[in-house]
Amino acid sequence: MHTKMGCMVFLRYSSFLFIHVFFSIFSFCFSEAQVVPAVYMFGDSLVDVGNNNYLPLSIAKANHRHYGIDFPNQTPTGRFSNGNNAADFIAEKLGLPTSPPYLFLISKDNKNNVSFMDGVSFASAGAGIFDGTDQRYRQSIPVTKQVDYFESVNEEMTHEVGAPALLKHLSKSIFGVVIGSNDIFGYFDSPNLRKKSTPTQYVDSMLFSLKVQLQRLYDHGARKFEVVGVGALGCCPKFRLKNQTECFEEANYWSIQYNERLQSLLKEWQIENKDIRFSYFDTYAALTDLTQNPTSYGFAEVKAACCGLGELKAKAPCLPVSSLCPNRQDHIFWDQFHPTEAASRIFVDRIFNGPSTYTSPITLKQLVAA
Ligand SMILES: *[C@@H]1O[C@H](CO)[C@@H](O)[C@H](O)[C@H]1NC(C)=O
Repeated sequence: MHTKMGCMVFLRYSSFLFIHVFFSIFSFCFSEAQVVPAVYMFGDSLVDVGNNNYLPLSIAKANHRHYGIDFPNQTPTGRFSNGNNAADFIAEKLGLPTSPPYLFLISKDNKNNVSFMDGVSFASAGAGIFDGTDQRYRQSIPVTKQVDYFESVNEEMTHEVGAPALLKHLSKSIFGVVIGSNDIFGYFDSPNLRKKSTPTQYVDSMLFSLKVQLQRLYDHGARKFEVVGVGALGCCPKFRLKNQTECFEEANYWSIQYNERLQSLLKEWQIENKDIRFSYFDTYAALTDLTQNPTSYGFAEVKAACCGLGELKAKAPCLPVSSLCPNRQDHIFWDQFHPTEAASRIFVDRIFNGPSTYTSPITLKQLVAA
C-alpha cells in the first residue's frame, strides 16, 4: 500500500518534468506492484480477519471489547488481537491490503463487489485440520471446508478471467497456511481422543489430512505456499496453568513433533510436485526466542495474557468484563492463546526476512521472487 502510494505521488510530479522518467518510474512501480497479485489465506484464529463474525452459532468470536482496542475507535474486527494480526502484517510486507474474509465477500455487506482476484481469507477461529476440532467452539470453518470454498472461488474466477489467466494469477499468488494448533489443543483437552490414538498416530493423521488439502490447492493452481508451523503451545498462558505457570512440556513436545513432520512432509511433497515453492516458518523457535530474550524485543511479560481474568489472566477468555494489562506493547500474549499485535509483527518480520533459523528453505521475500 505505502509503496504504491509513494509511487503515485512521485509519478505525478515527475510527469511534469520528463516524460521518459515518468514512463520508467511507471513501469518500475507497476512491475513491483504486480509481483504478488493476491494472498489466499487458510487457517485458524491466528489469521482470522472476520470470517467467524458471519457464523451465527460460533462462540469463537472476537467481536466484543477488548479485541481491537488498539484500532481507531477501539473497534473489534474479528481479529483475536489487540490490533492487527499476522495476516495483516503479511499483506503489508507484500504491499497488499489484507485479503478480506470469504464470508464477507459473499455477503450483502460486500457492496463494492470486491473481486476474489484481489485475495480471499478463508481463515476461521477454532478451525483445525480435522473437521471435528471446532466442536468446542460449536462452529468454525475447518480447513477441508476452507478448501471447498476455495474451489468455488476458483470456479467463479475462471468465469471472470478464463482458465489460462487464472492459472497465471494463482501461480504468482501466495497461499498462506496457518493451521494445526487447535488440533493439538483439542488432543490435550479430550480424554476421548487420547484413548483413541497415541500422540504419534494423532500427529501423523493430522499431516496425512493436511497433505490432502494442500494437494487440492495445488491441483487448482496454487504454487507458492507460506506454511506456518505451530508455536510452543505448552507455553501459551492457558497451558501454563497446567504447570504452575511454567510451560506444559507434553504439549511442547508434540508441537515439535508436528513441526518436524510437517517440514518433512513439505520436502516430500515438493519432490512429488516439482514446481511447488514453499517457505516454512518455525513459530516454535521464534516464540521460544521471544520468551527467552524478552528484553531485546521490548517485552516485559512473557507468561501472562494481557486480557483475561485470574492467574496469568488465563483462567478465562478475553471478555468484556476482563481486566487489561496497562501496557500491551510489553506483552507477548494478548489472551489465553493469541499473541499481541507487537509479537505478531515480529513473527511476520521473520517470516518475510528470516533468518534461516526460523524460515526455511527460503523466506517469504524469496518466495515472492521464486
Ligand atoms: C513443568 O515445568 C518444569 C520447568 O520448566 C519442567 O521441567 C516440567 O517438565 C514441567 N512439567 C510438565 C508436566 O510439563
